[in-house]
Amino acid sequence: MFQLNFICALHVLNVFCLASATLNTWTVDTGTGSSTSYSFAINSVKVIEHSSQSPCVYVGSGTTIFNEYHGNFDIEDTIERRIPLSLLTAVSDRQYKFASVSDSSLSVTLTLVDGDPFGEIQFTDLPDGYDRIWIRLVAEESEYVYGGGEQFTSLNLRGRKYPIWTREQGVGRNKSSIVTFYADTLSGGAGGDYYTTYYGEPTFFSSRGYMVHSTATYYTILDFTSTSVHELEVHGNVGSLQVAGGVDMTISDLSQVYVKATGVMPELPSWVSEGAIVGLQGGTDRMNQLLNKVEDNGVKVSAVWIQDWAGKIRTSFGSRVFWNWEWNDEQYPGLDTEIPKLKARGVRVLVYINPYLNIEGPLFKEADSLGYFVKNSSDQTYIADFGEFYCGTIDLTNPAAVNWYKARIVKRALDLGISGWMADFSEYLMVDNAKFFSGQSALDLHNQWPLLWAKLNREAVEEAGKLGEVVFWMRAGYAGLSKYTTLFWAGDQNVDYTVSDGLPSVIPAALSAGLQGIGMTHYDIGLYTSLFGVTRDKELLLRSAEMAVFTPTMRTHEGNRPSENWQLYSDVDTMKQFARLVKMYTALSNYTKAAYADYKLTGKPLQRALSSEFSQDSGSWEVEHEYMYGEELLVAPVLQANVSEWKVYIPPGNWVHLWTDKSYTGPMKTTVPAPLGQPPVFYKHTSSYPWSEIKLPLVPPPPPTSSTASHDHSHSTEL
Ligand SMILES: *[C@@H]1O[C@H](CO)[C@@H](O)[C@H](O)[C@H]1NC(C)=O
Ligand SMILES: *[C@@H]1O[C@H](CO)[C@@H](O)[C@H](O)[C@H]1NC(C)=O
Ligand SMILES: *[C@@H]1O[C@H](CO)[C@@H](O)[C@H](O)[C@H]1NC(C)=O
Ligand SMILES: *[C@@H]1O[C@H](CO)[C@@H](O)[C@H](O)[C@H]1NC(C)=O
Repeated sequence: MFQLNFICALHVLNVFCLASATLNTWTVDTGTGSSTSYSFAINSVKVIEHSSQSPCVYVGSGTTIFNEYHGNFDIEDTIERRIPLSLLTAVSDRQYKFASVSDSSLSVTLTLVDGDPFGEIQFTDLPDGYDRIWIRLVAEESEYVYGGGEQFTSLNLRGRKYPIWTREQGVGRNKSSIVTFYADTLSGGAGGDYYTTYYGEPTFFSSRGYMVHSTATYYTILDFTSTSVHELEVHGNVGSLQVAGGVDMTISDLSQVYVKATGVMPELPSWVSEGAIVGLQGGTDRMNQLLNKVEDNGVKVSAVWIQDWAGKIRTSFGSRVFWNWEWNDEQYPGLDTEIPKLKARGVRVLVYINPYLNIEGPLFKEADSLGYFVKNSSDQTYIADFGEFYCGTIDLTNPAAVNWYKARIVKRALDLGISGWMADFSEYLMVDNAKFFSGQSALDLHNQWPLLWAKLNREAVEEAGKLGEVVFWMRAGYAGLSKYTTLFWAGDQNVDYTVSDGLPSVIPAALSAGLQGIGMTHYDIGLYTSLFGVTRDKELLLRSAEMAVFTPTMRTHEGNRPSENWQLYSDVDTMKQFARLVKMYTALSNYTKAAYADYKLTGKPLQRALSSEFSQDSGSWEVEHEYMYGEELLVAPVLQANVSEWKVYIPPGNWVHLWTDKSYTGPMKTTVPAPLGQPPVFYKHTSSYPWSEIKLPLVPPPPPTSSTASHDHSHSTEL
């Protein structure tokens, strides 16, 4: 599976290699002659270099203030001391003490441990009075680094710094953009930046043939700005770095090692691939009317997703769901009898939950009387502002609270007959004065909170015996998420085509998360955030839908302001075009199943970077907005408005353009016709999949008047 024969040949004990193909072995080079430089290599890949002139460890102290506003953290960090530990003493051939030249009691000892699947570098605790450590790793100018959890702006992390801190991804995510400027100034710093994400993790994969995962969950900064060193800054004790490597290992090989250790997601329920999940709101009647309408126009619907099943409130952001996670029978009268009826005609019902409860709701009162919320420093329930409404946060470190949530919320929803939910949020965990049942600190728990949330959801599904029938999807994460979640989605993109936060951004997001085990992701068709006059038009809805054909799940979202944005049901032509795309998606289901089987076996995600599949091809490393879907499909989505052709990069090999049957031999760049509904997709010419079944004819254009005349304004009664 992995290309490790060569690595084994480097080892002294070949027999050891055969017993354990992924053993990671450290070697230490103490330099030659009078040189005092040391280097540590894992399976012959140099990871750390140290000399008294350029030390590899620094310790320091400072103050870090986490200013939180609606899940956006403005982190003010002041470094007071940063002391190089330049003096190296070998304690043994596996143990090295690094000390300050001016104060030898100021030291950290590092132990090298061989291992499978990871070797480790273990660190002793920070000296008293110090609160952070910097570790420098070897970098080369031409090296590529991927990972960092889910990263939206770019897949290659070189040239930038990545603070790892779970939070809102931000609106616009580009300090030079007007949308971000407005979000920052008008919405309390909600604009975000290139690194802001719901799911960061201190893990990276280098094209030099090694990977590093820091096991510390504290605030960590991965700094890839230098051409000669990478630097990890951990605010707290590192504990250990897990490291794997091999001179011949690609980023994909390294990712597979990591994913094997962290775990793969379970297969999606088969109903997911039988149609689209359609996001609808507004009560039982409206749900049924719109469902009938889209079905009458040919859309195969696998499920309706009613995020407002618990009711709605109104805020200036738009209408918001009432965070009281139980069926609201005023909003959805008769839902209990509706669910089996819909199921009988092949349509499931999906809902929405998150780990917070609105103080106005009965569930809050129940959980509060039981003491199940995170507390503040005066041992009272920590009430957090979520934007014109206030909530308690279920204390996910309290087993009784977790059991209450599973029984009182998840199991009751399952008993109602629902088949899944968006398991939203969990990134907001405040760190100012929050106290937890477990006694852990908020700084320790913040990044782990999404894992605890994912675990609760997964356990509730398994305890009900519904794994494989029910799907929940998360946007927040941390290292190890793939062990728990059943599906992932990219969160709240802007309804535009910007690289930093629009349609293009979901591609690096899928590719980066995929390397850390999130083999199956999807995104809101139509995208989500519509603020400051940016709205979704029909073309964006359809362009985002045509890319979603080549992902494991098609799910629409009405967005934060449904009435101002184009909807699936806004006109007949949209529904007809969408119906055709859903047919393509269902015709691909066997292909997707095979890609899942491959992921389960190898750890390779369904969506893969070109450079993961064609690591020898330099051109593939430059392409971050195309991807391989499984082994045989190259997807180069249209990511701009108003275009009818698209420039694509074709990686090495012989490819057939799905729509024209024209052959291409890569590597090459070319331009292909790409009208709406025909996203540039190429299959390997050796593929035996029945592609003709996916290649459906375009929907004939509507008669000139119909598009505006039939625009449905029924949804403009605000929800
Ligand atoms: C703790 O929360 C309560 C509300 O539950 C609030 O009244 C009190 O001021 C808070 N105390 C602190 C120190 O934040
Ligand atoms: C950020 O915004 C500026 C100004 O609109 C634009 O030129 C630049 O390309 C954007 N960067 C990304 C990564 O989207
Ligand atoms: C998937 O494969 C099965 C078994 O070969 C076949 O019966 C079925 O029609 C295929 N489904 C689709 C959608 O092509
Ligand atoms: C697309 O073209 C139309 C007509 O030329 C124009 O009105 C519209 O603003 C363009 N849309 C974008 C997003 O550029």
